[in-house]
Amino acid sequence: MSYVLIIGAKSDIAQAIAKKYAENGYNLYLAARQANELEIFAKDLAIRSNQTVQCLELDILDTASHPVFYNDLPEKPEGVITAVGYLGAQDLAQSDFNEAQKIIDTNYTGVVSLLNLIANDFEQRQYGFIVGISSVAGDRGRKSNYIYGSAKAALSAYLSGLRNRLDASGVDVLTVKPGFVATKMTAGMDLPAKLTAQPEAVANDIYKAQQKKKNVLYTKGLWKWIMLIIKHIPEGLFKKMSI
Ligand SMILES: NC(=O)c1ccc[n+]([C@@H]2O[C@H](COP(=O)([O-])OP(=O)(O)OC[C@H]3O[C@@H](n4cnc5c(N)ncnc54)[C@H](OP(=O)(O)O)[C@@H]3O)[C@@H](O)[C@H]2O)c1
Repeated sequence: MSYVLIIGAKSDIAQAIAKKYAENGYNLYLAARQANELEIFAKDLAIRSNQTVQCLELDILDTASHPVFYNDLPEKPEGVITAVGYLGAQDLAQSDFNEAQKIIDTNYTGVVSLLNLIANDFEQRQYGFIVGISSVAGDRGRKSNYIYGSAKAALSAYLSGLRNRLDASGVDVLTVKPGFVATKMTAGMDLPAKLTAQPEAVANDIYKAQQKKKNVLYTKGLWKWIMLIIKHIPEGLFKKMSI
């Protein structure tokens, strides 16, 4: 049976995705930094699903290691899902470029480094799927998180271009734009319950959209309409708003 490679596999959303794909008969490569911390999760999932689940060490910022990481996979995956991300501290990122660079490189540069390799391989063999978790934050820059938002905007544009390029090779690319999700990333934030998804619901939406070869997924679905409105607010008004 085919493998799915999950990047940033310690993420709460990634773990829900891992369960969903294993339940549906996929073997898994779970790639994360300090991947040994995933061993208990992986063993439990392998037993419950009767699939092979392997943990692999990967730091998305260590771009020099990416070719060896991908070339050394025992079997190339049918698909890849990237859930890696870093929200960071907007205030700090405004004054300390190291923080800004960490946000940009974790959400964008590192992901491009790895997906470039995978895209070339999938294009050559003419099948596969790529799922990139971006964010609604990339749809319009806001003062509260525009360094993170700009990295996600770049990721969304990258995935759009990849989809355009790989369509002719039979490779599907899905851009995922979650709104609020209750995970470690948002722990302690006061999120509106009606607009906040659980990781399991996001994983279900992603699985369905990927299997149906969708292009862009907003999850919860309501975010598609919220962002449509937000994107259409005139700039003169938007710059005075606090949202
Ligand atoms: N939660 C939300 O409201 C929300 C909304 C929109 C989009 N998203 C996106 O959804 C994705 C999953 O996020 P989440 O909410 O599940 O948050 P999360 O649990 O904090 O997951 C983020 C993951 O990225 C990993 N990561 C960070 N830097 C890394 C690096 N250098 N190398 C390898 N892995 C690294 C983290 O690994 P460690 O565990 O080792 O730190 C963590 O497991 C992210 O792309 C996020 O931007 C989340």
